[in-house]
Amino acid sequence: MLGLRGVDSKALESILDRADALLPVVRDGVALPDPPRSAVIGLLFLENSTRTRCSFEVATRRLGHQPIVLTGRGSSLDKGESLVDTAANLAAMGLDALVIRSAIAGGADLVARTIGIPVVNAGDGRHEHPTQALLDVSTLRARLGSLAGKRVLIVGDILNSRVARSNIHALMALGAIVVLVGPPPLLPWTFAELGPGVEVAHDLDGVLGSADAVMMLRIQLERDAGRAVASDYRFAFGLTAERLERLRPDVPILHPGPMNRGVEIDDAAAADIARSSILEQVTRGVAVRMAIIDRALEFPAS
Ligand code: CP
Repeated sequence: MLGLRGVDSKALESILDRADALLPVVRDGVALPDPPRSAVIGLLFLENSTRTRCSFEVATRRLGHQPIVLTGRGSSLDKGESLVDTAANLAAMGLDALVIRSAIAGGADLVARTIGIPVVNAGDGRHEHPTQALLDVSTLRARLGSLAGKRVLIVGDILNSRVARSNIHALMALGAIVVLVGPPPLLPWTFAELGPGVEVAHDLDGVLGSADAVMMLRIQLERDAGRAVASDYRFAFGLTAERLERLRPDVPILHPGPMNRGVEIDDAAAADIARSSILEQVTRGVAVRMAIIDRALEFPAS
């Protein structure tokens, strides 16, 4: 699971259906009917993470497997060891699969070509974050049913967002219309060239009323996006209490986290009981990652 580009709706729905079946294990502590052989799953996290890292760890444990976590700080990466050498050494210890987050776009793919165990991309630079997009579409499916023809607004720092890229692929495959919204420096028109299922808008208020779902994105200051936005960002692109009033009452609000409250999303939107699906995303993330780990372990080492 390195990315969602080119993954068809059948493959996506098979993972989403498996995640739905696993959801009671996450939500209600229901025991797995048939615990699998215990595997050791490496979690190599070289960028900061709260949700993805803990979610993969919980998913691993819920499946009856053992996680081993390695972060950049305190590892020999600090001494200059490369990502590929680090991963190869972990694989040589007999791990069954490796989950990788790194700042290098294509990093997980590079490792997957080098080591003989399944690799899962937990976010690679600005490139892709496939398990995040899967948990997003799992949440949207639970709220909206079929996504065919549904207008999903993705708002904010599209340029730097691996979440947006993976969601564009997943949502297009499932027949949704993706409306990318943001200031021109963070949303070049070239995104419109992705295909007929993708629209680009620079005026949030002009498209808000047409939304079937809204996904707010964080300004990625760690990727220098702060230089591209004006101080009135919240007034132009934030999901403020005023905009909440103009959003249909059944429109789910998503955010991958971490949230910059008072910038891209106001407290009122994050806490909106009927519409905020932000913690539901997190819960579904564990089930999706359980399904992904299950799937990864089905592939024999090459
Ligand atoms: N959504 C997400 O990737 O969050 P973390 O960076 O906390 O893992």
